[in-house]
Amino acid sequence: MDSIIVTGNGPLKGQIAIAGAKNACLTLMPATLLSEEPLTLTNAPRLSDIKTMTTLLQSLGAEVSQLQGGQVLVMSSHALDNHVADYDIVRKMRASILVLGPMLARDGHAVVSLPGGCAIGARPVDLHLKALEAMGAELELKDGYVHARAPGGLRGGVVDFPIVSVGATENALMAATLAKGTTVLKNAAREPEIVDLAQCLRRMGAQIEGEGTHTITIQGVDRLGGATHPVVTDRIELGTYMLAPAICGGEVELLGGRIDLVGAFCEKLDAAGVSVEETAKGLKVSHKNGRVKAVDVVTEPFPGFPTDLQAQMMALMCTAEGTSVLEEKIFENRFMHAPELIRMGANIEVHGGTATVTGVDRLKGAPVMATDLRASVSLILAGLAAEGETIVSRVYHLDRGYEHVVSKLEGVGAKIERVSDR
Ligand code: UD1
Repeated sequence: MDSIIVTGNGPLKGQIAIAGAKNACLTLMPATLLSEEPLTLTNAPRLSDIKTMTTLLQSLGAEVSQLQGGQVLVMSSHALDNHVADYDIVRKMRASILVLGPMLARDGHAVVSLPGGCAIGARPVDLHLKALEAMGAELELKDGYVHARAPGGLRGGVVDFPIVSVGATENALMAATLAKGTTVLKNAAREPEIVDLAQCLRRMGAQIEGEGTHTITIQGVDRLGGATHPVVTDRIELGTYMLAPAICGGEVELLGGRIDLVGAFCEKLDAAGVSVEETAKGLKVSHKNGRVKAVDVVTEPFPGFPTDLQAQMMALMCTAEGTSVLEEKIFENRFMHAPELIRMGANIEVHGGTATVTGVDRLKGAPVMATDLRASVSLILAGLAAEGETIVSRVYHLDRGYEHVVSKLEGVGAKIERVSDR
């Protein structure tokens, strides 16, 4: 297992290119199962989660080839010769559940392992299943697998989500494209990844209206064709690197960055005293060396402050002037980075879904352990601001969602290296 060693060394300067969104790519890839014709994704990120989805699609009979070092994915699902998504793959990545809707919609049957527990909370899939049931699917849970059937094909229906779920909206949206009649998704997620999926499905011939709003209406079609689609910019990678100059000073331009992807997050940076400017190529973030102001954060579905940036924002608040309160409203148990940040000298108290952070002058480098994807990058950010060496172990979490993190940060002057554990 590898570790990353970060040594705080002051202001950063330069440019970082932001990749295509992991979470968009993980929902766009299963869309290939809806069509016999090829689906090509450009601007794909090079991540281990993408490899896991590739393995899953291949296990179902899809062909997936990577071009341009993995930035282009060409997928073809001419005929699916297996309709069982095996536990051994699904347990590695929850997004595997996204093959259920497309397989069921196209071939009328699918068996998908339940994803099981997850480090950031229980994360059930009941909303995915209820949505498919509303479209006429017959479901049975047996031996840890969902057995789904729709003998005469799925039919349009009204799905009223009791809470906003990104994944359940995506599964239902994909399934509805091939259902007979009209499907209305109410209280749908409005994340940019949903908008990106709808745009890709429309390129494939789907009839969809209302993506990006609370209500999405889908008119089912008989078949979908092929398409080429660029994956939207990763707003979480963008927000993460925007925090790098905020936390240790400097000026960094994030190439491909867009304000509309990170609006609520930018408001908090502004309140903290960090400057964000739009440029011809993206966003420029600058902050003079010195402490930012404490700000309070509540995580919410898009367009609110994203839960996937909560850990990184906490790292910034560790050295802010004053006390900030971070409330996690999406996932229980998503403060596992707090004890690690405390090891670096942070003053954090966690009570249930609320963390109270009182800024300290300076963090101190320490050996720390990555516990999940976003937690691991928050420790790297904290390391940029700390005195001395921070050794982050278990960085395989990081490889799931951040490509080339070492070279991207090195490119703007950070002292960071990856070492293999003996
Ligand atoms: C997606 C993202 C993840 C992000 C999250 C919230 C991907 C691959 N992952 O996860 O990075 O943190 O959105 O922005 O895109 N829930 C249920 N039943 C369900 C589904 C969800 O109760 O069937 C609950 C969850 O436990 C959670 C809330 O709904 O409390 C929102 O989860 P959801 O939006 O579904 O997250 P994911 O799609 O899993």
